Amino acid sequence: MSSASLTPEQREMLLTVARNALKRAHAPYSNFHVGAAVLTDSGEVFSGCNVENASYGLTNCAERSAIFTAVQQSKAEKLRVRAVAVVNGQELPCSPCGACRQVIAEFGQEAVVIFKGQQGYCEMSIADLLPESFRL
Ligand code: THU
Repeated sequence: MSSASLTPEQREMLLTVARNALKRAHAPYSNFHVGAAVLTDSGEVFSGCNVENASYGLTNCAERSAIFTAVQQSKAEKLRVRAVAVVNGQELPCSPCGACRQVIAEFGQEAVVIFKGQQGYCEMSIADLLPESFRL
């Protein structure tokens, strides 16, 4: 299974949508504002931000927020995630956490993830980010 890469325009569009989403982050505890954008196979785009809580463990990452919104709002019969972009307000290297990788894999086994690595933005397939993801 291979993950076809995105066009430069798709990539820039997703990063722009993610940057807009991070403005809505609720992150008073970490002050680390994160935004994510999801592109579906049918061309729909959804966004999300991180939502923290005084009970820290209840925090939801931006990537999962975006995917949960896609699940709720997509008009497609079956949601397939084609790509996920994630950005943060500090432009620090930030790849999706393990929980978010598992959630991305649930909806897009061929998804491409765009995130800031040590050497700038990079694109990796979810299969490379999470080999042997759990499936029922
Ligand atoms: N966070 C995300 O939203 N996405 C990531 O990929 C990494 C971490 C959030 C969770 C928490 O609100 C804050 O960043 C600090 O961990």
